[in-house]
Amino acid sequence: MDFNDTLTKRRAVNYFDTERDVDEALLKTVIENGAKAPSSYNLQPWKLKILRDNKQKAVLQKLAFDQPKVTEAPVILIVLADRDGWKEGSSSLESVFKDNLESGKMQPEQRDWFLGATTGLYGRDSEASQAFANKNAGLFAMSLMYSASAQGLETHPMDGFDHDGVKKEFNIPDNYWIPMLIAVGYLKPGVNVHPKGWRQTYSEMILK
Ligand SMILES: Cc1cc2nc3c(=O)[nH]c(=O)nc-3n(C[C@H](O)[C@H](O)[C@H](O)COP(=O)(O)O)c2cc1C
Repeated sequence: MDFNDTLTKRRAVNYFDTERDVDEALLKTVIENGAKAPSSYNLQPWKLKILRDNKQKAVLQKLAFDQPKVTEAPVILIVLADRDGWKEGSSSLESVFKDNLESGKMQPEQRDWFLGATTGLYGRDSEASQAFANKNAGLFAMSLMYSASAQGLETHPMDGFDHDGVKKEFNIPDNYWIPMLIAVGYLKPGVNVHPKGWRQTYSEMILK
């Protein structure tokens, strides 16, 4: 499918086919393609928790303002944004530094410079770490939704949930913030998706 068609086709779908599962291999492809998203210094400070189990989804639904799609969709992704993904010792920073050395983009003596750059930008204060985590995980989430759409799947992003409650219930370590949940599945047969809602025009978007 042409990417412009994917841009139009992707919708936040409210009704999922409860009879149709998402194939494991297909979901893996969707996630791997979604991870081609850009990120600050290529640090990719994101993780996913995948829920398929009905009991777990029922618990999550209660923590997500009882939104039925949480249990109706076969897959729920809990998107995790790593506030520590810029720090020395984090798997993000160490993996990207190793990759930069192997590809010759950086030399070993540039490590201190690299640590200084990420700390200066993202470790300035808690707001900077939070913004770093969320902007990158948000781009990943968007890329993931387009990736799913390109594979014929439907998605629905949700930030209507009890953040701290979800963290506690699913034992999410403290360094992660949860920007959104994403329901993934197929459209319930017979459902008509509402026409796409209001979008800002070009001139409305440009701040003069
Ligand atoms: C970060 C984020 C959080 C959202 N949270 C919810 C939610 O909790 N419940 C819901 O019904 N829709 C939620 N939505 C869906 C939006 O309402 C929807 O994307 C918007 O109306 C545009 O419609 P479209 O995605 O079909 O183009 C969320 C969307 C985003 C991007």
